[in-house]
Amino acid sequence: MKTIRFLLMVLASLSLWPVWADRPDSVYVFAYSPDGSGLRFAWSSDGGRWNRIGPDYCFLSCDYGPWGSEKKMFHPVLYRQNGLWHCVWSLNQRDGRLAHSSSADLVHWKRQSYPLLMPDGGNCLNPAVLPLSQTDGATLFWQSGDKAQKRYFQSITQDYKAYSPAKETASLPEKALYACLRDGLGDGCLLKVPASVIETLENAAYRSTSLNALYAETCAGDAERFAGLQAVSAELRIDLKDTKAISDHLTGIFFEDINYAADGGLYAELVQNRSFEYKVEDTKGRNPNWTASYAWSLFPEEDGKLQIRSQDGLNGNNPHYAVLEFSPQASTLHLANEGFDGMVLKKSETYDFSLFAKMPQGGKARVDIRLEDENGHILAEKGLIISGTTWKKHQVSLSPAASTGKGRLVLVFNAFPGCQIALDMISLFPRHTFMNRPNGLRADLAQCLADLHPGFVRFPGGCVAHGDGLDNIYRWKNTIGPVECRKSQSNIWRYHQSMGLGYFEYFQFCEDIGAEPLPIIAAGVPCQNSADGGQQDGIPMEEMDEYIQDILDLIEWANGDARSEWGRIRAKAGHPKPFNLKYIGIGNEDLITDVFEERFTMIHQAVKEKYPDIRIVGTVGPFYQGTDYEEGWDLADRLQIDLVDEHYYNPPGWFIYNQHFYDQYDRSKPTRVYLGEYASHLPGRPNNLETALSEALYLTSVERNGDVVEMCSYAPLLAKEKHTQWNPDLIYFNNTDIRPTVGYYVQQLYGREKGDVYVNHQLRLDNPAWKVTQRVASSVVRDSRSGDLIVRLVNMLPVSVNSSIHLQGEDSPTLHAVCYQMSGQPSDRNVVPQKSELTVQPDFELQLPAYSFLCLRISH
Ligand code: AHR
Repeated sequence: MKTIRFLLMVLASLSLWPVWADRPDSVYVFAYSPDGSGLRFAWSSDGGRWNRIGPDYCFLSCDYGPWGSEKKMFHPVLYRQNGLWHCVWSLNQRDGRLAHSSSADLVHWKRQSYPLLMPDGGNCLNPAVLPLSQTDGATLFWQSGDKAQKRYFQSITQDYKAYSPAKETASLPEKALYACLRDGLGDGCLLKVPASVIETLENAAYRSTSLNALYAETCAGDAERFAGLQAVSAELRIDLKDTKAISDHLTGIFFEDINYAADGGLYAELVQNRSFEYKVEDTKGRNPNWTASYAWSLFPEEDGKLQIRSQDGLNGNNPHYAVLEFSPQASTLHLANEGFDGMVLKKSETYDFSLFAKMPQGGKARVDIRLEDENGHILAEKGLIISGTTWKKHQVSLSPAASTGKGRLVLVFNAFPGCQIALDMISLFPRHTFMNRPNGLRADLAQCLADLHPGFVRFPGGCVAHGDGLDNIYRWKNTIGPVECRKSQSNIWRYHQSMGLGYFEYFQFCEDIGAEPLPIIAAGVPCQNSADGGQQDGIPMEEMDEYIQDILDLIEWANGDARSEWGRIRAKAGHPKPFNLKYIGIGNEDLITDVFEERFTMIHQAVKEKYPDIRIVGTVGPFYQGTDYEEGWDLADRLQIDLVDEHYYNPPGWFIYNQHFYDQYDRSKPTRVYLGEYASHLPGRPNNLETALSEALYLTSVERNGDVVEMCSYAPLLAKEKHTQWNPDLIYFNNTDIRPTVGYYVQQLYGREKGDVYVNHQLRLDNPAWKVTQRVASSVVRDSRSGDLIVRLVNMLPVSVNSSIHLQGEDSPTLHAVCYQMSGQPSDRNVVPQKSELTVQPDFELQLPAYSFLCLRISH
């Protein structure tokens, strides 16, 4: 708050503060939502000439339905009742729901609700409201049907939570409030209010617009902004005796199967659509070719057909399979899989091939398994015989004679004319995976993650965790056990998840790299952006016990001994020792609605009752402020949740000017923060030195608050070239190359060079200009295991900063320092840390080049 107040004082001193003309004590206000885009206000002293506030500032946005196509507010009706403002509006032409929210000041709005008023069908249009005089409730009226057949209905609510069944009514009562049309503004509601209300609204709009303008600052304007600025001198006084404990796993990674991060990415399987489960709906109908035979081709075409069947499939979780039907003259057919943009095959390495097959009509077939390069040269070949009318697994291993980055798998079937061969789970897996785990991870990509030295790994998302609608919620039990028995499903990012990289592989990876697992489970509600129903629906109450049991089972699977029901399943999968799970996240940036709160509370209570030591991470919405943030924190305070997961993707300017975000945190609260998703976003969404430096700068303040911020993770992590739904990401890759970004190296310098003790220090610049001081930041931590001191300095100025560093209380006359320096032009995308070694004394000088991040590890 202090920072915000200070910013506003600065803006006021620049004479940008709004100036109000003489205004009567009470004025007209018109509350409207142009084209459904959310609540705006205009005021007028005479009801004739209107002044738009903001002039287009949105005070309340509708949260109903997916972004883009929905989230609309039509016909807002605003009224004040018993000291509280209420707003009721209609949502669309379709659903039988209206929307409601309330506010004390018209600026901060409480959670929204979308009561289902027409459960048996029918829509809710043009609402009107008659507030009840005795209570805080109201009678809501609405129109239903279309223009040709209008009918009016009404329902009474005492608390805006429970509504009486809809009753048809002949007409609206005279006194009912409803939206009317006002030229130039649209439809909305007219009220008379004290002039002070307009001042509150104008202040809020002005404050927000001014701050957003400040946050929109980019380095592109630095030449002008810092014209004439000379090199700055800085003095850094580090008091080695003044310390506090901070989290020893502050930075970690956020893994989500977005941008082909899992299938075609980290999961080492080379065959795409190996179990013939792709479907057009995975892409929401956008790609008609995305069918069960996607990525497969059969040739010669005239010699046979590839059919997809689901009767007598491998198992209920994996119902579809392919049947090759030989035409009456044919005895040879080729079936090829193109992989994910081709397959990388390396000379002399071993590849494990497997498939499930049967001959539904009996007989025998020979199949030659070929690994080919892009020119059709055979790099490896082995044969096997298929027979029997029931499913049987076959496996061979192959070793290519040469390497290719664009190979493919070709199966050559030799059988009798007219025969049928059924196939499923056709897999080609490199033997060499990360730590040589079977069904493991692509070694180079996993190593790149390990090199970040993450303190924890979040999984499986992000939006993937709560899914696209109730049926798409990620269920961990579908992702363990033999791969052919796992239940694949549509990915919310519009492709397919094989679940080959499931919970077992995830926990194994965490253990292999020494990171805490941080699984995120849906809070009984799907992603607020779900295409069907979405956030407004929750798992039906009668199914919640089973859902909660699944969560308790996950904890037993992770931590129970090998004799427990779920511990036994883990042991059977090859891990008798418990994984030692400490955290579980419930929810992902959900809207904090009643539907959410009810379910979250049930899960929270059940987990705490059975596993009091498991630290639960709650959620506070997708932004750093606003209704979900406030309501989420309010719920956290009431339930005393261990941690909450904050998310914000903001411009670099936000990170520069919000370095005090956690300084004012109330440390007496039990709740700690997990900054679970953040990244600096510039227009065009690059990951460059400017974004990376703003993250490095902000992280100095996160580290300073490492006693309340327990964990943080940049998001998203991985992106495959040509399959990227979201930018920027931390690591870009294709099948052969990995391109860590500038931001990656910032994360690495925090993850690898980490401390568990924060060392107090003062940084003073000789130039006190506010915009200058905000661009230079420092952080000092000690790694108590090695005793090393880690000093981080960030300079986001276009000039160098000459610093003198004083290690107060240091006894040794000379020390050894390893320095990692990143510097360049803000738009550079290829900056990597430069390492140097130096000998320093307790008082030493260091130059920070323009636009640089320096990280020093000082040891005795
Ligand atoms: O990180 C990408 C997406 O951003 C996550 O899936 C979601 O949680 C957030 O909106």
